[in-house]
Amino acid sequence: MTEAILLVGGKGTRLRPLTVHTPKPMVPAAGVPFLTHQLARARAAGVEHIVLATSYLAEVFEPYFGDGSSLGLHLEYVTERDPLGTGGAIRNVASRLRSGPDEPVLIFNGDILTGLDIQALVATHTESGADVSLHLTRVPDPRAFGLVPTDADGRVTAFLEKPQTPEEIVTDQINAGAYVFRRSVIDSIPAGRPVSVERETFPGLLAAGAHLQGMVDSTYWLDLGTPQAFVRGSADLVLGRAPSPAVPGPCGEYLVLPTAKVAPDAKLTGGTVVGEGALIAEGARVAGSTVLAGAVVEPGAVVTDSLIGAGARVGERAVLTGAVVGDGAVVGADNELREGVRVWCDARLPAGAVRFSSDA
Ligand code: GDD
Ligand code: MG
Repeated sequence: MTEAILLVGGKGTRLRPLTVHTPKPMVPAAGVPFLTHQLARARAAGVEHIVLATSYLAEVFEPYFGDGSSLGLHLEYVTERDPLGTGGAIRNVASRLRSGPDEPVLIFNGDILTGLDIQALVATHTESGADVSLHLTRVPDPRAFGLVPTDADGRVTAFLEKPQTPEEIVTDQINAGAYVFRRSVIDSIPAGRPVSVERETFPGLLAAGAHLQGMVDSTYWLDLGTPQAFVRGSADLVLGRAPSPAVPGPCGEYLVLPTAKVAPDAKLTGGTVVGEGALIAEGARVAGSTVLAGAVVEPGAVVTDSLIGAGARVGERAVLTGAVVGDGAVVGADNELREGVRVWCDARLPAGAVRFSSDA
């Protein structure tokens, strides 16, 4: 297998309020656009040619990744005029593939961070003789995903995208968003109209008696659908829990990009990333967080499990836990922000405006 399709389109991103000009795949995770990790992992597994199927803010990908040669890849870009859905996007790039009808093509969702052994998925595909092979993972709450029950041999028996009723929750195995397709199956998806691979293609193939094979494994897996998950994924890349050849530095408690400045007595832990030109001032403590380019964390601030947007500012002694601070926002001194709070891009929070503690 030498070819892949990467799905990076759709209606946009739940990170959008933070990164208006940046689609999620381009937001830095462990210092580089998230997509870099997926591309580098595919390359390490032997993939040489990748077609990016894009729609939303498509124009940002090509200027950054170009022809892919810096990653040892040949990259092509195909932009949908209107989003074609996951299956439609796959079909829409079929003419760019060079694989023969029986050859395997790797396809993956653009918002997944995983330690999947790509070669093992290809081996499963080849050995089982399947039409499509799917990476499956187990999650405690499968409702936001595609449920994929399998039989004793790992053969897929149903595909239930985002189950609505308790009766539909028949398994904790979910579609982890990476597939190997027999090339000819890609060509059989209807062209020129929106198609959901999850709601139409997979159920249709099963109804027609096609062989869909599941490979369940318990490797690192995270859907980066929320800013909180994004921060977690970035930290796990830095800590080395999520494997990627594209992390620009050794794994450890923190990653400080070359032009960032960190005061000698500031403390960085838990996979914290400090982006280009960012500043962490004296006595600040930053744990498990992503501080994007040009952001400032002022003296004595304590930032935990949070995303600090590009050019944002966290004031002196502010305490942030599980917070998302939009690009260019200012959190004044002595604020206390907790789990789930989102400070909108360019918003300004005066000093001491939000507190949880009862003291004066
Ligand atoms: N080019 C293109 N065009 N790409 C698209 C389109 C489209 O119209 N729609 C979605 N995509 C891309 C997204 O950018 C993303 O990388 C991937 O396809 C999946 O779409 P999401 O919108 O993120 O779907 P989801 O997270 O709700 O569900 C999917 O992923 C789950 C795992 O995280 C499904 O594949 C589920 O079955 C799966 O469990
Ligand atoms: Mg998703």
